[in-house]
Amino acid sequence: PAIYAVIPAAGIGTRMQADRPKQYLTLAGKTILEHTLNALASHAAISEVIVALHPDDPYFTDLPVAGSPWLTTVTGGNERADSVLNALRALSDDSWALVHDAARPCLDHEDIDRLLTVTDRDDVAGGILATPVRDTMKRAHAGQATVAHTESRDDLWHALTPQLFPTGLLRQALTDGLAAGQPITDEASAMELAGFEVALIDANPANIKITRPADLPLAAFYLQQQT
Ligand code: CTP
Ligand code: MG
Repeated sequence: PAIYAVIPAAGIGTRMQADRPKQYLTLAGKTILEHTLNALASHAAISEVIVALHPDDPYFTDLPVAGSPWLTTVTGGNERADSVLNALRALSDDSWALVHDAARPCLDHEDIDRLLTVTDRDDVAGGILATPVRDTMKRAHAGQATVAHTESRDDLWHALTPQLFPTGLLRQALTDGLAAGQPITDEASAMELAGFEVALIDANPANIKITRPADLPLAAFYLQQQT
């Protein structure tokens, strides 16, 4: 079956506090969104890229990639999960959806290759890139900055993207999770709620999500390392 890349890019980047949504800031000669789109479109296994944009987005049409034959745009929604769901509606049930944040431009092909191995497994419905937690983890007293106790970091992982699932199952899981009012902050959380097994694929830690201003020089460094 076909593998489609779905890119939620409809956020406004509140925490970045820039003059435009962070995916349109330029790093290493290109916008963050273009780095992300190119990382996926240049992979041989990915047949098409669907990008979800803010309804009032004035920036996308000016990008050199806009109008590429492998690219489709859809309108995003209020939350990330709504943006992903809008993109999934355009895809056939029997395809695979590889969902990846626009704000993670440092993705490399080796990580995509490792994630794609889940399509051959029958012990899991799909999988996600993830990194094991390295720091000691503290649980605070509710709403306070004092330590209640130390959490074990055994078996604790950071969930990254891309996240890869069969399109029909993921569309249903996101629809049901949102309808139930559950917090759906990634695709895997919806699939877990629906009772599916999700593989954790140990990822390159360079695949950071650009969130705050201090993340920009770090991402620029990783992008320069790639070439
Ligand atoms: N996103 C989206 N639709 C939304 C919210 C977020 O497509 N309604 C996308 C963002 O564009 C980003 C990814 O989801 O590529 C991860 O979200 P995040 O890092 O939180 O980006 P923003 O929501 O833009 O940033 P902030 O939360 O600081 O406002
Ligand atoms: Mg956000």
